[in-house]
Amino acid sequence: SQVEPFDYVIFGATGDLTMRKLIPAIYHRFREGQIPDNFRFIGTARSQLTHEEYRERASKALSDFVNRTYYDAKVAAKFIEHIFYASLNGAEESGSWQNLLDLFTPKDAEKVRVFYLATSPNLFGQICANLSKYKLVTDNTRVVLEKPIGYDLQTANEINESVGKYFKEDAIFRIDHYLGKETVQDLLGLRFANPFMENVWSAENIDYIQITAAETVGVEGRGPYYDKSGAMRDMIQNHLLQVMCMVAMEKPASLNANDLRNEKLKILNALVPITGQKVAENTVRAQYQRGFLEETTARSYLEDLGENQTSQTETYVTVKAEIDTPRWKGVPFYIRTGKRLHKKVSEIVIQFKESSTTLFPSKPGPDRLIIRLQPNEGLTLSIMAKDPTSDEVALRRANLDVSFTQEFNIRYPDAYERLMLDAVRGNPILFIRRDEVEAAWKWVEPILDGWSKNITPLAVYSAGSWGPEEAKIMLAKNGHIWHEDMR
Ligand code: BG6
Repeated sequence: SQVEPFDYVIFGATGDLTMRKLIPAIYHRFREGQIPDNFRFIGTARSQLTHEEYRERASKALSDFVNRTYYDAKVAAKFIEHIFYASLNGAEESGSWQNLLDLFTPKDAEKVRVFYLATSPNLFGQICANLSKYKLVTDNTRVVLEKPIGYDLQTANEINESVGKYFKEDAIFRIDHYLGKETVQDLLGLRFANPFMENVWSAENIDYIQITAAETVGVEGRGPYYDKSGAMRDMIQNHLLQVMCMVAMEKPASLNANDLRNEKLKILNALVPITGQKVAENTVRAQYQRGFLEETTARSYLEDLGENQTSQTETYVTVKAEIDTPRWKGVPFYIRTGKRLHKKVSEIVIQFKESSTTLFPSKPGPDRLIIRLQPNEGLTLSIMAKDPTSDEVALRRANLDVSFTQEFNIRYPDAYERLMLDAVRGNPILFIRRDEVEAAWKWVEPILDGWSKNITPLAVYSAGSWGPEEAKIMLAKNGHIWHEDMR
């Protein structure tokens, strides 16, 4: 259904995220009739651009990033008329703010107003102070904060404090786009609408779980940001811990935002701390070297950064996490992510315990459920079946496979579509509450601290591989293997 009329104001509007994700997201929903005719998308950034110049960039973003099947030139032209631009230095206390103020009349206060901060997080506080000072905050205003929320617990607290001075918690929408992925939300359906799943979802039946976000891209143009942050801060502290919470949490009392977030928070708080020597046992960190990927040679991370670079930043992480609750006691959650890996895939593998039966000529292998978050969203349940070529009851693996795109015959929306509109609707269910951010940092910090003391040395892996040997060895110690090595 249609959302209320709104003005979306983006800080950092000339950046990659705005062009690649935010503009196409609103376009898709406009094309599908969910956006009322009197909305505005107002970009702000430091560059001196006219409305016309910014619209040209937005048009190009649509033709570059919207799939041909959904690109409609007429709709795009109509959409572009709703785009405006104000040249603005958000952290500056005066001067350029007038450019933004000029775009608002008192009547605009009747609309929902969303300020989307996609700038460096150290500007969030100052931008919010200015929004308040210039009386841009109405009763119907929300602020969306892009990640990263901080560099560690202390800086996260500083950001949350400074934004909290001007916005109440229920007006603050901390985005984690993994929660906007349909397949991540589907974990609720899968787990709580299917009693047979709910019944096997525990340590009694599950041997171990893998959560993977593998990417083929390197650091692209984001070297300066990425090199300071690394894979732990960029992907694990937020996206993958959130996915883990959705896999592991107890059934929420309702689908109300706080009930869901309370359950996620309990998981974050129940994570067994990884400190001291445990950092060496439970984590692997690595950086990519030259290699061969997607039929070409790929440069090393250091070469990607530029000439004469040195860096200890990890582009790959595996963490063996454990959750100290009755449901999960003893079940390792292997969480991994990396750049320049063999292929782009985000997935969850649930490896069930093996059957102990001696009925068959050979021991049955474990059942496993693969939840494909992206691409090719869907599920595979890999089970044991009788091998039809055998006259005895020999066993063989068979897959029950569902592809959601085929099943539902729909376009799979990008995560940002749902999230951007939820901010307009004022629905925080898929956004992160302050205490979740803090709990995640509390668990991550001792690991980062151990790494800074070199307790886990930085390993290497070739671009195009599945990561360092050390990650295989870590699983092998527990008799476990990675999905790509499973038969
Ligand atoms: C972003 C990270 O949050 O997520 C990027 O900053 C990463 O480094 C991206 O590439 C991955 O998102 P997705 O949706 O492509 O898996």
